[in-house]
Amino acid sequence: MNFRKLGSSDIEVSEISLGSWLTYSGGVEAERARACVDAAFEVGINFIDTANVYGRGASETLLGEALAGRERSSYVLATKVYFPMSDSDRGLSAAQIHKQIDASLKRLRTDHVDLYQCHRYDAETPLEETMAALTEVVQAGKARHIGFSEWPAEKIDESLAIPDTVRWVSSQPQYSMLWRAPEAEVIPLCEREGISQIVWSPLGQGVLTGKYRPGEQPPADSRAASKSMSGFIDRLIQPQVLEAVQRLVPVAEEAGLTMVQLALAWVLRQPNVASAIVGASRPEQVHANASASGIVLSQDTLDAIDEALGDVVVR
Ligand SMILES: NC(=O)c1ccc[n+]([C@@H]2O[C@H](COP(=O)([O-])OP(=O)(O)OC[C@H]3O[C@@H](n4cnc5c(N)ncnc54)[C@H](OP(=O)(O)O)[C@@H]3O)[C@@H](O)[C@H]2O)c1
Repeated sequence: MNFRKLGSSDIEVSEISLGSWLTYSGGVEAERARACVDAAFEVGINFIDTANVYGRGASETLLGEALAGRERSSYVLATKVYFPMSDSDRGLSAAQIHKQIDASLKRLRTDHVDLYQCHRYDAETPLEETMAALTEVVQAGKARHIGFSEWPAEKIDESLAIPDTVRWVSSQPQYSMLWRAPEAEVIPLCEREGISQIVWSPLGQGVLTGKYRPGEQPPADSRAASKSMSGFIDRLIQPQVLEAVQRLVPVAEEAGLTMVQLALAWVLRQPNVASAIVGASRPEQVHANASASGIVLSQDTLDAIDEALGDVVVR
C-alpha cells in the first residue's frame, strides 16, 4: 500500500481508504462489517471515513466497536457533521458543531478524530461562526485537522480569507471516471491552497466494476439489489452508463488490470487526490480494492477510457 500526504498536514493516508456510508450504517451485517475493517488493516489501509449521519450514529458506533482493540495511532479516523441527526439537530452552527463532535467521539470511543469534515455548506449559519467553532474543536484537541465535502468553490475561497482560523487540509468530493465535476474548479483551487482530495464513490457505487450488465437484473448480492442500500444508485444504473462501462472491459484487459484496479488507479492518477474512499460489503473486496494502489495508467489507457465512456461522463 502506498501513502500520500493529506494536504498541508503531517498525516500520511493510504491511497485506498475504507468508507462506511450505506454499508456499515446497517446495510451490511455487523460481523461482516467488522471483517471488512480487519481486512483493511491486513492490506495496509490506515484511513477510515465515516459521518455522524450514517445510520444516525450507527456507522460510528460500529466503527467504535470494531476499532476498540487497536492502537489509536495506527489509523487515521475521519468523521463529518452537517446532516440532520434529529428534527432539531442539523447544520454547522457553533452549538451544533460542539454538540456533534462530542457525540461522534463518544460513539467512536476515542478522544479525537484526525479529520473533522463539514459534510455540506450550511447557508443558514454565518461562515465566520462555523470556522470559529471548528477552530475551537481543533484547539481543544478533539480534531487534529478539518475538511469540507462538496462546498461551492466561492465558499471555500471565502472561508480561506477568514483570519485566525484553522485551515482546511481536505476536500471530499464525488470523483470517478464517470463523475469528473471537481476538475473544473475545486481541484485547481485546492491545489493552490495545499488541500487534498479524498474522493467518494470512486467505483461509482460498484458500477465501475462492470458487474451490472445492461438489460439484466443486478446480481442478487449487489448494492443495486439491496433493499436498504439501493436508494442512491439509480442515476448510475441507466442503460447508457452500463453500456459505456462495458466498453471499459477490453480497455482493462489490454492494460492487464481488473476493472476495479482501472477505476481506482484512474482517480489516483490525479496528484491532488490523496486517497480513494471505497465502500466494501465483503473482505475480499477490500483486498481487491487495495491492489489498485501503486498502479500507473499509461496515456494510451487514459485515452481509451475517455473514448469508451464518451458523453456519459459528467464534467
Ligand atoms: N461526502 C459525501 O457526501 C459522501 C457521499 C457518499 C459516500 N461517501 C464516502 O465514500 C465512501 C465510498 O462511497 P460508496 O460506498 O458510495 O461508493 P464506492 O466506494 O464507489 O462503491 C462501494 C460499493 O461497491 C461495491 N464494491 C466495492 N468493492 C468492490 C469490488 N472489489 N468488487 C465488486 N464490487 C465492489 C460494494 O457494493 P456491493 O458489494 O453491495 O455491490 C461497495 O459497497 C462511503 O462509504 C463514504 O465513506 C461520502
